[in-house]
Amino acid sequence: MADKKNIITLPHVALRNKSTRVGVITEEIRQIVSDMEQSTLDWEDSRQHELGVALAAVQINVRMRIVIIRSSFEDKTDRTFQHFINPEITKCEGDLVEDYEGCLSVKDIYGMVPRYEKVKIKALDLEGNAIRVTAEGFLARVFQHEIDHTTGTLFIDHIKDSQEAFFRLTEEGKLQQLDYEKDIRDNRILW
Ligand code: NI
Repeated sequence: MADKKNIITLPHVALRNKSTRVGVITEEIRQIVSDMEQSTLDWEDSRQHELGVALAAVQINVRMRIVIIRSSFEDKTDRTFQHFINPEITKCEGDLVEDYEGCLSVKDIYGMVPRYEKVKIKALDLEGNAIRVTAEGFLARVFQHEIDHTTGTLFIDHIKDSQEAFFRLTEEGKLQQLDYEKDIRDNRILW
């Protein structure tokens, strides 16, 4: 049974690995997806104010292009996920918009990250069927974040001006700005 301990966090170097394409969707792939789901839900159950929105396989140290995204971002009682095998962005549209972003592999830190408003995705589902999705807003942000993971990229890499871009979640569930030098750089949380 997989749990949140399967999730690797920075400065684990494996997060920087490029994932490889999945060939045939075997029982092993289904097991990896199941482990990803259980790890994400167990993480969520340990957090008061956060939703386990999505995960890429590299985050449980499996170097394969597999992404899971929660079916509902509003309803926490819906614990199901959509599965994307070999996901690729085929088109980015609209402006770059900044918003808060977190990651299960970047412990307790949030950042202001620019992402495209709209993306088109192609992938396979768990049955091997080709799927295409046009995503906007938060879902578009999630796809960009997760597909980044498959190339070893993290949200912190998109932050150009670090001084006012990092936040932590307080016990009350509010985001509080961090001091880049004192809270992040000197603690060596990220690298
Ligand atoms: Ni992430």
